[in-house]
Amino acid sequence: MPAEIKKTVISYDEMKKQMDNELSAFISSGNETEYIEMPKYFFEKGICRISFNIPGFNEVSVFNILQIMKNHIENIRIHTMDPGYYAFQALNSNLFKTEDILDNIKIEIFGITANHKVEISKKANFTQEEVNLAIEIFRYFHNKEDIDAVSELKKLGASVYIENNSLSWNYIAGYEDVKRKIRESVILPLQNPDVYDSIAKLTRQKFESNRPKAILFEGSPGVGKTTIARIIAGEVKIPLVYLPIESIMSKWYGQSAKNLSEIFDYCEELGSCILFLDEIDSLAGSRDQNMFEATRRILSVLLRRLDGIESVTNTITIGATNRKNDLDTALISRFDQTIFFPLPNQNERSAIFSNYARHLSQSDLDAIGLLSDGLSGRNIKDICEYSERRWARKIIIKKEEVSVPPADYYKYSVNLWLGKNNIES
Ligand SMILES: Nc1ncnc2c1ncn2[C@@H]1O[C@H](COP(=O)(O)OP(=O)(O)OP(=O)(O)O)[C@@H](O)[C@H]1O
Ligand SMILES: [Mg+2]
Repeated sequence: MPAEIKKTVISYDEMKKQMDNELSAFISSGNETEYIEMPKYFFEKGICRISFNIPGFNEVSVFNILQIMKNHIENIRIHTMDPGYYAFQALNSNLFKTEDILDNIKIEIFGITANHKVEISKKANFTQEEVNLAIEIFRYFHNKEDIDAVSELKKLGASVYIENNSLSWNYIAGYEDVKRKIRESVILPLQNPDVYDSIAKLTRQKFESNRPKAILFEGSPGVGKTTIARIIAGEVKIPLVYLPIESIMSKWYGQSAKNLSEIFDYCEELGSCILFLDEIDSLAGSRDQNMFEATRRILSVLLRRLDGIESVTNTITIGATNRKNDLDTALISRFDQTIFFPLPNQNERSAIFSNYARHLSQSDLDAIGLLSDGLSGRNIKDICEYSERRWARKIIIKKEEVSVPPADYYKYSVNLWLGKNNIES
């Protein structure tokens, strides 16, 4: 569009006509089930105003709106930037000429918990460019596809796993008790939410969900906590949003509490999902003063989000920790249940070895299981990899046919791991 046309001032009636034409076409091309109200127009005391409701906004959307404004307005002033009220105003193209500055177009975004709306006003008729801007802002807020929760979550530092079918329960050897508890307390409610809700409707004076919102996985490093969270997501066929608390604390010093809160919001937009908060012990025991402040704010977001009142309904949060005792007691109390992952027992160790060394005989597996007391599943996996590498090296050097490592190689690696062998063979 040529610059002159963009700057052309258009009449109030023409503005309404253009907006209504563009937006009714936009609305009818979208999702029919959702009712979207058209903007309202006012012309009073020389002020031309467009007002419309929006489903809600957050800092990401305000930032995106700023970008849209920047595409249409040469110079913008941030008039107000409070949570719940953002106001922006165009400046004159000559920044040093300040007269009549308040007559320029103003864009306001309102609303804290409800009644979110946008108002665009000007003490004159709008130019073509400004009408285009109003149309774009309306579309931005009503275009579901634009607010892609998965990419926003990634921007905020979370990893999102959607296709989780690669891992099955067999991947985790042993741990029958842990698997049973997870089936009962996590899988059943996720697969049959209506049964749980119907019961709560019959039992509660005022309806509240009885489904678990937060589960704590406690256990030593390498016992399968993260792996099991991925298996659950795959089984229930919902996305897994993976967020190591440590990384959000170090990444956005000062911003992290806000970002964590947005992560909860975007999880809700995904519909049902598992939010896996890994390494929540990083919230414990930091003595650094600034870090302490960040930790405190993150904690308070977590406490609120996991609590009944502000809790999200379709997100199930799983927290993982190596040291439950170091966690804040208020935080622990927000979890509906703790599932403890012990170190594997002798039979389980043999079973884990059989996952990573399936060629070994049962009696060898039994012997290695006995030998490897105190090791985690991860240790065992590492030992098997190490044994294979040593075996491969030998085959290459001696130019032998490819074959599988014998049981002795595994026994040797276990002893080495336990500090019982010191010399590399
Ligand atoms: N019971 C098991 N059977 C098979 N593999 C296992 C078992 N337990 C752990 N592993 C293997 O060990 C590795 C580490 O597991 P995972 O990352 O899930 O542990 P984690 O409990 O989350 O550890 P961390 O506390 O360090 O995060 C994975 O590759 C997993 O396959
Ligand atoms: Mg883990």
